[in-house]
Amino acid sequence: MKVLRTTSDMLHARWHCGMGAETSVGFVPTMGYLHDGHLALIQLARRRAAWVVVSLFVNPTQFGPNEDFAQYPRDEKRDLALCEEAGVDVVFIPTPSEIYAADASVSVVENQLSEGMCGSTRPGHFNGVCTVVAKLFQIVRPDFAVFGQKDAQQVAVIKRMVRDLFFSVEIVVGPIVREKDGLALSSRNVYLHKPEREQALGLYATLQEMQAQWEMDMRDAQSLTAWGRQYLVDHYPEVELEYLVICDPDSLLPCADVQAGTLIAIAARVGQTRLIDNILVGT
Ligand code: PAJ
Repeated sequence: MKVLRTTSDMLHARWHCGMGAETSVGFVPTMGYLHDGHLALIQLARRRAAWVVVSLFVNPTQFGPNEDFAQYPRDEKRDLALCEEAGVDVVFIPTPSEIYAADASVSVVENQLSEGMCGSTRPGHFNGVCTVVAKLFQIVRPDFAVFGQKDAQQVAVIKRMVRDLFFSVEIVVGPIVREKDGLALSSRNVYLHKPEREQALGLYATLQEMQAQWEMDMRDAQSLTAWGRQYLVDHYPEVELEYLVICDPDSLLPCADVQAGTLIAIAARVGQTRLIDNILVGT
């Protein structure tokens, strides 16, 4: 496994590391502090590609001024051991200055899908994500890149960027990996104290109960959303709901009727920790 820290080394890896022009390259961008969710994406890439590249980069531009960029958990040694074990070929670990020139003045702006959901409380977040992913695509030049369904809005935004800017990268989406009790794995789960951990289960529980109501024929999105909000308040009073939306997974536009494949997404705060989760109905 090669560890590359400069953009120039990564740009030349196809040749210097024997990746070659014909080899298929699968790419898994991450912010490190790897958990089984990340590892499942790496395994997905491993099954499909001759070469697997993973990036570990806590991207400063996708954090707001009051967000947890400085505190975001980091453990490079452990991440490298996990990558090695997972059969990764190249780990790319740039410094911020490798990715962002001091006078960088060009970025990627997404104007539609970033507006609602996480975008409403995290202005600029998805432009930061698009900008770094565009740069990483240019540096790694993968045939495909794997993203997690966990971040449903991120998936929609990245697919739109790839479509609108004609990137020749296939976007592959991996399912959400959960703890046994249903909590979606997240690097931020380490922030949760024990009582908060119990309350955090409210996100997935609400999604599952909404799905059960849907199966019992509650197909009207407004009624189902109201039902879900009430369920959360009744059963998980400490969870501070940020949003609960029912929408099309590609356009993120609200749906009037809930059908198989419709996205139900939730974001909430438990104590100081912000959590997100989602389901694609009936899948
Ligand atoms: P990060 O939060 O480290 O996540 C890296 C990838 O892992 C993302 O595609 C995310 O959706 C996926 N992931 C996280 N938790 C998951 C889970 N429980 N199950 C399945 N997949 C999961 O997302 C980012 O980093 C950044 O925004 C990035 C794309 C790297 C750009 O900086």
